Amino acid sequence: NKNIYILAIESSCDDTSAAVLCNKKALSNIVATQKIHEEYGGVVPELASRAHQQNIVPVVHQALAKANIDKNQLSAIAFTRGPGLMGSLLVGTSFAKSLSLGLNIPLIEVNHMQAHILSHFIEDDTHKTPKFPFLAMTISGGHTQVVLVENYFKMEVIGESLDDAVGEAYDKSAKILGLPYPGGPLIDKYAQLGNPKAFPFPKPKVEGLNFSFSGLKTSILYFIQKETAKNPNFIAENLNDICASIQYTIINILMDKLKKAVKQTGIKQIAIGGGVSANSGIRKALEEAEIKHGWTAYIPKFEFCTDNAAMIGIVGYLKYMETEFSDQSVTAKARYIL
Ligand code: KG4
Ligand code: ZN
Repeated sequence: NKNIYILAIESSCDDTSAAVLCNKKALSNIVATQKIHEEYGGVVPELASRAHQQNIVPVVHQALAKANIDKNQLSAIAFTRGPGLMGSLLVGTSFAKSLSLGLNIPLIEVNHMQAHILSHFIEDDTHKTPKFPFLAMTISGGHTQVVLVENYFKMEVIGESLDDAVGEAYDKSAKILGLPYPGGPLIDKYAQLGNPKAFPFPKPKVEGLNFSFSGLKTSILYFIQKETAKNPNFIAENLNDICASIQYTIINILMDKLKKAVKQTGIKQIAIGGGVSANSGIRKALEEAEIKHGWTAYIPKFEFCTDNAAMIGIVGYLKYMETEFSDQSVTAKARYIL
């Protein structure tokens, strides 16, 4: 049995990443995070695509070097076709197309959302692999979805955010509190020191398995404006309690919908992915649900939770085994439904 070597490229948002996989194992997974967006409080698309152009060649070189693989050993190139920012996607897509042409090896397009879910199948001794069918919840700065996963290639979105993504809710709340971008990890850090019931925020009423986070952001803004008018030091004096209350509300929103999805499908295997999977509140809530409701929760290694090319590589490998290749006419797709 011949080893398959996949070079994978991810450039959908603000991280430039390249990885080399040998079959299902990641030999390297290099991520260049773009610091430039910090001072703007969010990702600036034009700056992101320029940074991808600067980063892509060195990142690919590093991924090959770290894996100790020569480009002539590669079996195929996998890349993120979408969804994401058009200018960012174009950099990875054109690079992958050219390299596949130059090396005369197959080109494999990958849906970024499918990759977040299939990241659970990257071979890793410390991580158990979910069994089909399972429910996947992707939670990040760009996505909030609940997906029914029947097999590698058959997935159905059964719930998603109608407005902001959950990571955005974290980051925008953090901005209101004067915390730097991305504020999610900071809210999580302070939340662990505060009282989650100090300040009750309303939960949105959304039908079915869909989510909404924009109302929460507005109620936090009004609350902070009202309290700081009375006491200019309100935020500083209550930061831990405010963060704990925000976190409590967000985690409740996520867990309510997950419970509903489990009830609706009868599936108790829950896999999460995306940057917010690092959150201590969601991890704790899932651990509790394992005991209380008999769920099995799968949480990937942090390196595979946030945007990375190894997750693109695992989909590349699985598609390679099915000889599902793209041709040179393939183009980037900003809106790319799962
Ligand atoms: O997956 P990711 O790296 O990029 C995409 O947005 O696709 O996710 C980044 C998001 C940011 O919104 C960040 O604030 C959030 O994940 N995040 C967290 C935590 N760590 C990262 N949010 C809450 N708690 C955390 N510990
Ligand atoms: Zn992502």
